[in-house]
Amino acid sequence: MTVQSAVLRALRKPRGTAAQGFGQTSRRDSWAIYPVVQAIVFTVCASYLTFSGVLWGPLFGPQYVQVDGYLSPLFSPLLVFPDMPTWLSPGLLILWIPIGFRATCYYYRKAYYRFYFADPPGCAVGEPTVHRRFALENALPFILQNLHRYLLYLAFIPLTFLWLDILPAFNIVPDADVADPRLRISAIGLLFLLNVILLTGYSLSCHSLRHLVGGRIDCFSCTRARRVRYTLWQRLTDLNRNHMWWAWSSLVTVTLADVYARLLLAGVVPDLAIHF
Ligand code: FES
Repeated sequence: MTVQSAVLRALRKPRGTAAQGFGQTSRRDSWAIYPVVQAIVFTVCASYLTFSGVLWGPLFGPQYVQVDGYLSPLFSPLLVFPDMPTWLSPGLLILWIPIGFRATCYYYRKAYYRFYFADPPGCAVGEPTVHRRFALENALPFILQNLHRYLLYLAFIPLTFLWLDILPAFNIVPDADVADPRLRISAIGLLFLLNVILLTGYSLSCHSLRHLVGGRIDCFSCTRARRVRYTLWQRLTDLNRNHMWWAWSSLVTVTLADVYARLLLAGVVPDLAIHF
């Protein structure tokens, strides 16, 4: 056996301690319910968001979703330039960041490895033996999951713009073409606000951010800077405990926010707003 093949063999997935064979387990609970429900919610939301943000504009128009000061979160920041080809959605120019951020998220990896790849289907549940032939995250394409930390840095760019979008949504800084520039509280504005709060919680509860703030320190109390980092790390740890909840709730609200903006743009629903 060559050194190279020995290394590759060592990188293969170990046998593990769960029962061998797909679905084999001694668990008595309804363990399959969670992956099935999660697969449905994730597939519906991810498919819709990809279609709406990347394909809808080029296929049916308009290029992006903005109506009466409300900009769909899928197109924020709005990147349009003169002579932009009609096949190119402005959403595509920015969505690669949140899509990449979510696709490489530690929590989502656990979830979609389970419901898409049965890897494993659940805790203490056997997986297909074919998995042992692959190096998984030690080789392409899944080694790209290591980009998560860098996507975290980038994710704060669209997040900042989503907070800025709250200003025109409430007419605190009205858009030039808004029908009624008085201050307003609207259903879609509140949905936008809830969405950006949940997205912020999702980003701040990231495992990578927690490690970035509090990791690689031997002594938390040795210097003032380290004590500050420790305090921050404790706050992020509180958020991190519910990272799964932030992940699912923000995925649903970003989907609903785009659906609502599209319905508003199409005139299907009215703008439920109170003006002051
Ligand atoms: Fe989920 Fe970083 S681990 S966003």
